[in-house]
Formats: sequence, C-alpha cells, structure tokens
Amino acid sequence: MELYLDTADIHAVKRLARVLPLQGVTTNPSIVAASRTSLWEVLPALRDALGGEGKLFAQVLAATADQMVEEAVMLNQRVSGLVVKVPVTTEGLAAIKILRGMGIPTLGTAVYGAAQGLLSALAGAEYVAPYVNRVDAQGGSGIATVQELQRLLEMHAPQAKVLAASFKTPRQALDCLLAGCGAITLPLDVAEQFISAPAVQAAVEKFECDWRGAFGALTLG
Ligand code: E4P
Repeated sequence: MELYLDTADIHAVKRLARVLPLQGVTTNPSIVAASRTSLWEVLPALRDALGGEGKLFAQVLAATADQMVEEAVMLNQRVSGLVVKVPVTTEGLAAIKILRGMGIPTLGTAVYGAAQGLLSALAGAEYVAPYVNRVDAQGGSGIATVQELQRLLEMHAPQAKVLAASFKTPRQALDCLLAGCGAITLPLDVAEQFISAPAVQAAVEKFECDWRGAFGALTLG
C-alpha cells in the first residue's frame, strides 16, 4: 500500500519521514494557501523533506478543461513525477481524458460519490480520492462510499487506485485500508494519533520503572 501525508508543512514532513514509510505528500489549494508559501517553493521543499524522492500531488485551479490541461502541463514540466489532482467535475473529467492521452498522471479529487469516482478512473485517472470525513459530515457514510468505489474499481477499472482522503480519525483511515484501498493520505493530526497512543508510552514507562527498581540502572547489564 501507499501512505501519504496530506500537508504542506515542510518541518512536519521531515520529522515524520524519519519514522513513517511515506510514499510522498499530497496537497490541495487550501493546504498550500494555509502555508502562505508559493506552490513553486513548497513542492521542491516537500521533496527535499522526503529525502529527495517520493511522489508529490498538486491540484489545478482552473475551471475549464483546456485551462486545467494548461496548468497540469505546467505542473508536470516544473515538478518531475508529480501527479496532477483534477476535481471530478464535468470539465475535470474532460481534462483527465486529455491528460491521459498526453501521458500526464492524474488523481480525480473532490470525490463524494462512488459513481463519480468510477467515472474519473474510466476517464484515465491513476488515483481516485474519495473525501471520507466530508461525506460523513454531510450525513452520508464515507466508508460505505469508499467500499463501493473500491469494488467498482476492482471490477471495472483495475488500473486505477483508491487514494482515500479527508480523515479526522485513525479509525476512518483503518476502515479504508480494510476495504482494500491501495493508498491513503493522512492529515498530520491523524498521522500523529497513529503513532502516539498514550497507553503505549505508559507501558514503556512501566517497563523502565520495573527494571530500575530491580537493577538500578536502565541498561541491559
Ligand atoms: C484530498 O484530495 C483532499 O485534498 C483532502 O484530503 C481533503 O481533506 P479535508 O476534508 O480534511 O480538508
């Protein structure tokens, strides 16, 4: 499976890349805007933070297919190996089809429904990103959407991969992996929750305390 961080926080990526088996970093316009740093500075810095390798994702902003394609070409030329995120609107679907013909890899984003996600895969998107928590927040079931989408891709577009996104809890991410998704992208707070359960630290401290009580020093002897 592929694990990504959904962030433009360079320092956090550097810190977590030491610990997590990261494949790369995903961004979206809101994430880059929150960083207050130009996209063209952020993307190379993220790659450096990953140790000079890893897959990066950045999204087009245009609303028409032709302009989306123009932006995607620019992204593809300026950042090697970048996957272009294209919102799965009517125009986005047209753009994905054109980009596929040009050999530029895309991710269908802003996916709130399984059929919508399937269409982007059929149009040629390499990845499809359902928004799990945002579907939940609308009163739907993010995980049910992901389960349907995963099955649909397996049956009808096996060359595409679900890259599940938009999480507020580790449980949501785990459920996507249990549904068979090949990729997930975690916001920093959820990634931290995966590796910093308070009970774990308490268990380690108890081991240390018991050892010191018996042998004085915390060495193997
Ligand atoms: C993924 O493509 C989205 O950019 C992102 O994961 C959305 O996450 P949010 O719902 O937490 O903003």
